[in-house]
Amino acid sequence: MSVDASSPPDASRAGDADRAFAQDLLQPDIPLKDWNTFGFDVRARFGATVDSAEALRAVLRDTRVAGLPVHVLGGGSNIVLTGDLDALVLRIALRGRSIVSASDVVDDGRRVRVQAGAGEPWHAFVDWTLAQGCPGLENLALIPGTVGAAPVQNIGAYGVEIADFFDTLTAMDRQTGDIRRFDCADCRFGYRDSVFKQPGGERWIILSVTFSLPKQWAPRRAYADLDKVLQARQCTAPTPRDIFDAVVAVRQAKLPDPAVIGNAGSFFKNPVIDAAQWASLQAREPGLIAYPQTDGRYKLAAGWLIDQCGWKGRGIAAGSAARVHDRQALVLTNTGGATGHDVMQLAACIVDDVAARFGVRLEAEPLVL
Ligand code: EPU
Repeated sequence: MSVDASSPPDASRAGDADRAFAQDLLQPDIPLKDWNTFGFDVRARFGATVDSAEALRAVLRDTRVAGLPVHVLGGGSNIVLTGDLDALVLRIALRGRSIVSASDVVDDGRRVRVQAGAGEPWHAFVDWTLAQGCPGLENLALIPGTVGAAPVQNIGAYGVEIADFFDTLTAMDRQTGDIRRFDCADCRFGYRDSVFKQPGGERWIILSVTFSLPKQWAPRRAYADLDKVLQARQCTAPTPRDIFDAVVAVRQAKLPDPAVIGNAGSFFKNPVIDAAQWASLQAREPGLIAYPQTDGRYKLAAGWLIDQCGWKGRGIAAGSAARVHDRQALVLTNTGGATGHDVMQLAACIVDDVAARFGVRLEAEPLVL
């Protein structure tokens, strides 16, 4: 990690210009319904949409929010809001996309680096990289959310996760205003995990992310669902755009569009168990879907476990608005008027049922506030 700049955002140092700036940006008693993809109708004591590092510093320095907890939302696509927040909620809207010029980095001729502001919508960014002739991220098409949220949970789909193509990111320390650069090792990426999800990690607000894409491209089509679509389309030698289109088709067929039905993608992580537990489970449940990991453990398909417990398409009661999606049991939905509390109650019932039948405890993937 290296420090690029520093400017502590303590209130005592805030100048008149900063104060006026923050005044415009800080909104009291802000509705969050449109700020979270579940569409939960809750409010925050203060909210601000910031489109530059300077705006972010000015808001963090404002005396009205001194001492308040700070929550950062990108697209609000990986969060469960269970009630009003006595907090400052920040929507990060830093924009800009560019190909990093060779003079800015050591260029080994084998990769191209692309950079985007944390507030860039993820899917449009992936689409743009392909239009620039810089493939690599196409398996991650149509994932909701922003570029800045992507490293937080190391988004992944169809055999790729962003850690595979990550170069560096910049983030602001919300306490001091310092901006730091994180490389791949600093981020401590894991399955749907990073340093930013671990204790102390919430201190960093991501401003921009740079990806390193290999100039030698090869399609990654091993994932069964994806390969099926490519075969049906008679794509024997797919282009990056063919993969992108096929991923979009698979996701649209299986996953609800958050603009239509409130959801936060996979609600649970796929649990990883040791080889002994897998062997005894496999003997009892011959249909078990499990993927061997490089460390000898097995990752189970949580969607299958939930499906086997009969939850697909169901809620706790017949008329419940919090329901399991009818085409992918790993996704919980707000079909209209559900609260975060309703969704968490449904999740708790699912966790209990899966634990009772399979002896495996599911863990929620989104952040619960
Ligand atoms: N399955 C069922 N019933 C279901 C759901 C799944 O039997 O209701 C079975 C499927 O038939 C398949 C297996 O379970 O054999 C795995 O399902 P799927 O391929 O849909 O993938 P997943 O493991 O459920 C993960 C990611 C998704 C990502 C897909 C594709 C997690 C938590 N989820 O889901 O990510 O799109 O793989 O790579 O790792 C997200 O994180 O929000 C997300 C959607």
